[in-house]
Amino acid sequence: MASLEKCDPEVAAILAAEVKRQSETLELIASENHCSGAVMEAMGSVLTDKYAEGYPNRRYYCGNENADRVEQLCIDRAKALFNAEHANVQPHSGTSANLAVYMACLKPGDKIMGMSLAHGGHLSHGMRLNISGMVYQAASYGVDEKTEQLDMDQVRQAVLKEKPTLLVVGASAYPRKIDFAAFGAIAQEAGCLMMSDIAHIAGLVVGKVHPDPVPHSDFVTTTNHKTLRGPRGGIILCREKWAKAVDAAVFPGIQGGPLEHVIAGKAVAFYEAMQPPFRHYAQRILDNAQTLARELMAKGWRLVSGGTDNHLMLLDLRSRQPDLTGHLAADWLASTGIIANWNSIPFDPRPPMRASGLRFGSPAVTTRGMGADEMKLIAGWIDKILLSQGESKPIDEVRGAVLELCRSFPIPARDGECAFDCQIRE
Ligand SMILES: Cc1ncc(COP(=O)(O)O)c(C=O)c1O
Repeated sequence: MASLEKCDPEVAAILAAEVKRQSETLELIASENHCSGAVMEAMGSVLTDKYAEGYPNRRYYCGNENADRVEQLCIDRAKALFNAEHANVQPHSGTSANLAVYMACLKPGDKIMGMSLAHGGHLSHGMRLNISGMVYQAASYGVDEKTEQLDMDQVRQAVLKEKPTLLVVGASAYPRKIDFAAFGAIAQEAGCLMMSDIAHIAGLVVGKVHPDPVPHSDFVTTTNHKTLRGPRGGIILCREKWAKAVDAAVFPGIQGGPLEHVIAGKAVAFYEAMQPPFRHYAQRILDNAQTLARELMAKGWRLVSGGTDNHLMLLDLRSRQPDLTGHLAADWLASTGIIANWNSIPFDPRPPMRASGLRFGSPAVTTRGMGADEMKLIAGWIDKILLSQGESKPIDEVRGAVLELCRSFPIPARDGECAFDCQIRE
């Protein structure tokens, strides 16, 4: 930071404020995490200077011997971590990874079928305003109205009816395990390809607390920055027969030069995720989510599908505060330092900006070393604030308690430790 402070104090001050914000708040946004100091160091490295269009040993610029080494290491680690035949580590984001898969295996106008956005899917799975919904015909499947879970018989019927070219599996706001084997069988029966987008659950998959999509999918995409706890960005895993098409779709299909500094960060994150303590971390993400869910339900809040078996949960505000919107509730929580996001719930009668739900996730607080006792405290504070009518006294009280908890559980990466050293801290 020393040279940044000297050269651009304005930006340095903003970054210092963000360090303070993160350390003094509880991050319950399910798609966020705190990556290690080692990952950050790699991302802030000299590799940012280098143009490396192409792939290792097939570049369009000279001087890429170190970029080649880091990208090949990252590819090898990604393949080993996920047990995949081929890996492309260049996608700048999860959305770019998905678009590259579409480009690799579809023609414009072909049909993709993913989980409905309104039921927890992602906009890159065919939303009307996203390029995936403009270039391709989009169809969707959803959760069962009663159980709010995927019913594989219903999914099968919908897929056989729609006959997509590509079945997209994966979600941004689905609190239950995904049965990739059942999806794979449906894709086989329907004669379509299958892409599993494990952006949210990748860390749970490699930590062996969620079923593995790799054996059942033609393509697997993921972000690196959620439960996997790496740098912002995406990767694609695929069967060898799709390797050439996927590589060509990423470059020159949708991207130019890769971000080798971020690829270095991905390599570090994959190394961390290969270490035995990462399994413990994944298990604790799950345990913490289930404790938080149980405590909220015990206080009378309804959770979509009645709980969680992954890292996230969706709270239905209507169960105790029928007039409170997710947006306002998230604002009240944020003023105490509890950071979450409002979210539509399946069959939500309200529009997305006034959604009836709140989404909570456990990856970031688990990285800080929190466990069951802290989840119970947090559930109590959430309950108090959601019933507070936004009054300042309960907000001030909870703000003080949140600050105290944050001070007891500093963010490990900010201390320069490796993430996998500190996650075993109880
Ligand atoms: C299931 C899923 N896929 C893809 C993405 C897109 O990732 P990015 O924001 O890196 O484009 C997300 C992001 O939340 C996601 O939840």
